[in-house]
This record gives sequence, structure tokens and C-alpha cells, in this order.
Amino acid sequence: ATSSFVRIVEVGPRDGLQNEKKLIPTETKVALINRLADAGLSVVEATSFVSPKWVPQMGDAKQVMAQITRKPGVSYPVLTPNVKGLEAAIAAGAQEVAIFGAASESFSQKNINCSISESIKRLAAVADQAKAAGLRIRGYVSCVAGCPYEGRIDPRAVADVAKDLLDMGCYEISLGDTIGVGRPREIQAMLEVVAKAISVRQLAIHCHDTYGQALANIYASLQFGVRVVDSSVAGLGGCPYAKGATGNVATEDVVYMLEGNGFETGVDLKELARTGQWISSELGRPTGSRVARALLSK
Ligand code: HMG
Ligand code: MG
Repeated sequence: ATSSFVRIVEVGPRDGLQNEKKLIPTETKVALINRLADAGLSVVEATSFVSPKWVPQMGDAKQVMAQITRKPGVSYPVLTPNVKGLEAAIAAGAQEVAIFGAASESFSQKNINCSISESIKRLAAVADQAKAAGLRIRGYVSCVAGCPYEGRIDPRAVADVAKDLLDMGCYEISLGDTIGVGRPREIQAMLEVVAKAISVRQLAIHCHDTYGQALANIYASLQFGVRVVDSSVAGLGGCPYAKGATGNVATEDVVYMLEGNGFETGVDLKELARTGQWISSELGRPTGSRVARALLSK
């Protein structure tokens, strides 16, 4: 029987904030992470140890990791693109890292400055060292439904990269519709191909909402058996290497949808909505979650 528990991986502090132009104070990021954990999220992706020349907003990764309250039972994964980032993450006390590759050659070049096959070699070195240090490793594949530079992506390319990441020792592979172009049937067709190589229990779905398809795609993934969903509080985000892509699906909207469909998440929706409203006001805009707007205006 498939479980009714859905694990939500909150990516707002990383995927959500990485694209903000104005530098956000470290203490605001730390408060956000702590509030998300307090709202019941068991995974809060905290930051990324990437090159500050490439992503200036994540330049305070070390300080963020030093200042957050590590709540028991909550994991705080961080992105590590190379061994340099991994070493910094370990020094900062990270216990879980995420490595990321793409199903599209052009996106791989723009995002991490190397080809897919070069990235696999680079990531294998990161994974080996992470395993040796006893860390848990999560894998991401970007552009699973489409690429800003190449258009449609063959699901077999997604499956290949996903399998490579799994073989390196990732416990889970998050399939990212980075630019939010996929539609439910396309997502299911992609999952069908990927699930031939990887058990659906080891897959997560990571939807951006650019074309308003994220919730529908998540629902389609749930029907397929996926039980891990990445999302971002208040729908924060965008990708620095995917022009025009909006944020991830809002965590509040995902929780609301799941609760009404018989799934458990462990998340306090009201508290989450307040957190989303607070961080949005810190960024000078209304929350991007429709559920939060509806709940908080009552
Ligand atoms: P590069 O320029 O090819 O690397 O970047 P390099 O080794 O030549 O290094 C260049 C400079 O960066 C050097 O400094 C390095 O020391 C420094 P310099 O000598 O010029 O002073 N450097 C670093 N500094 C700190 N931490 C590091 C690090 N590495 C190098 N880890 C690299 C290659 C991969 C580093 C770069 O392209 C990079 O950092 N890319 C990250 C891009 C990124 O963060 N993108 C967003 C996350 S992915 C995403 O959002 C998608 C996802 O959400 C899923 C989805 O939506 O589908 C996950
Ligand atoms: Mg993303």
C-alpha cells in the first residue's frame, strides 16, 4: 500500500532566496529557516555552498549554518556543486548535502559551467567525499520537462542523469521542472521512463509554477506514487540561469491540497502562512501563496 504521508522538502531559504537581487540580511534568513522548522517542516534546505561570484545571495552560507537552531528531527541540507563547496559545508557542520545535475546540456553549461558528463565526474568526487564524511546526499536533476535553451527534453536523458546520481549514493532524486513548463501528462510520461531505472519511493518532484501547472503536476505525481514534494514558502524564487522562471510552487498551497486529499504532512498550515507573509513583507511584496492570502484575510 502506498503511504498517506507526504514529506515536504522546503526549499524556500535556498531555491527561493537565491535569485533575490538585494542582499538579504543573514539574520532574516536564519529566522526564516527556524520558523519553517517550527511550522513542522522536517526538511528545510538552508543555503548553498556555491561560488559567491555566481550566486552572491548565498555568500553567507557559513554564517547561516552557524546561526540556525538545529531542531532535533529536522534536516537542513545544503547545495554543494563541487568539492570546494562540500569541504565548506562540512566545516559549517552540514549533515546532508544536495548535488545537482541537469538533463539538458545547455542548462548544465549555464548553471554549473560544464557538460553533463563532466558534471557527473565532478559530482562523483563530491559524493565519494560526502559518503566518507558520513553525510546524507540528495540528488537533483534540473530541466526534466523542458529547458530554457533547448526546449523539450527527452525523458531518457532525465533517467540517465537520475540513475547516475543514484549510483553515486544519493538516497533520493528530486526531479526538477526548473522552468515550470511541464503539464500533468508530460510529467507522468517522464516519471514512467525514470521509474524504469529508479524506484518511485526514491523520487521527489520539484515544480516551479511559471505556467501555473505546478499543483496539477504534483497531483499527477502523487497518483504515480511519488511521496516527496519540494516546495517554497510563499512561492519564493526563480532560477538565476532560467530567465523568466517564477518561484517554486508555494508550500502553503501544496499543504492545503494534500490535507484535503487524505495526505498527512505534519505541517501547521496557519503558522506556515504567517511565516510566508512575514518573509514576503521583508522582501517588500505580498505573499505568492494563494492559500495564504485566502487564509490570512479571513
Ligand atoms: P567555475 O567558475 O567553473 O569554477 O564555477 P572554478 O572552479 O573555476 O571557480 C571559479 C571561482 O569560484 C574561484 O574563485 C573559486 O575559488 C570559486 P577565484 O579563484 O576566481 O577567486 N569557487 C567557489 N567559491 C565558493 N564555494 C564554492 C566554489 N567553487 C568555486 N563551492 C561552479 C563552477 C559550479 C562553482 C559555479 O558554476 C557555481 O557555483 N554554480 C552554482 C550555480 C547555482 O547555484 N545555481 C542555482 C542552484 S541549481 C537550481 O536552482 C535548480 C534546482 O532548484 C532544481 C530545479 O529547479 O530544477 C536545484
Ligand atoms: Mg528549483
